[in-house]
Amino acid sequence: MASSPFLGIAASFTLLLLSLLLVRFFPLTPSPPSKLFTAQELAIYNGTDNGLPILLAILGSVFDVTKGKSHYGAGGGYNHFSGRDASRAFVSGNFTGDGLSDSLQGLSSTEVKSVVDWRDFYFRTYIFVGKLVGRYYDSQENPTKYLKGAEAKAARGAQLMEKQKIEEAKLPSCNSKWSQEEGSEVWCDNGYPRLVQRPLEMAITGKVSKRCACFNEEELNQPGLEVYKGCDHLAKVCRL
Ligand SMILES: *[C@@H]1O[C@H](CO)[C@@H](O)[C@H](O)[C@H]1NC(C)=O
Ligand SMILES: *[C@@H]1O[C@H](CO)[C@@H](O)[C@H](O)[C@H]1NC(C)=O
Repeated sequence: MASSPFLGIAASFTLLLLSLLLVRFFPLTPSPPSKLFTAQELAIYNGTDNGLPILLAILGSVFDVTKGKSHYGAGGGYNHFSGRDASRAFVSGNFTGDGLSDSLQGLSSTEVKSVVDWRDFYFRTYIFVGKLVGRYYDSQENPTKYLKGAEAKAARGAQLMEKQKIEEAKLPSCNSKWSQEEGSEVWCDNGYPRLVQRPLEMAITGKVSKRCACFNEEELNQPGLEVYKGCDHLAKVCRL
């Protein structure tokens, strides 16, 4: 069968019309223009008015969380995040008064990393709708020094955690178990249980913390190893 150029043109015209119709009824990328909010504007979207979307901000990025209405709406367990930027509360767990703050002052680098992870979660799970003018974005939508500082601190936190993981992998951890009758117990398949300071914990959380690691007999004289209270120097199992 000879194909006529006219048929070809008609076919592509039909296709074009069809795709226009499809786009009209099923928009491919529903991306409303990103908007700049003031804190007062954002506060209106706190889930009180059922006719309005529910919005929240984290690190100055504003998300539409209406699809999570049961959590973010009035009476929901996360309602305190709605209509505001309560970045700090994502890690502090303090949902009262000044706890609902966008300030990250005094948080450790891993806590700041955790806030950044929460922002990633909202980017993945909800709809980004704009930016909040204030601590994290200026009125030109540019990230502030404060936001750049927070992101840099989060990156340091991630590095420290990675380094800690590598350090700790060099020293095998003790096995541990707990039961009602016996209480807690730690033991080593190879070597002897000792309490050691987690090397980077001070830099990461600002606190000293210890863990149980296993050492060979010839390593037991190293400084910084602590025998469990009430446990024999060469015991393989320690009851706590
Ligand atoms: C919550 O939103 C409503 C309107 O949606 C507004 O009238 C009210 O002032 C808001 N509450 C706060 C604490 O901003
Ligand atoms: C929550 O934060 C407020 C203000 O910083 C403080 O007064 C309060 O003690 C905090 N509550 C808890 C449980 O940490």
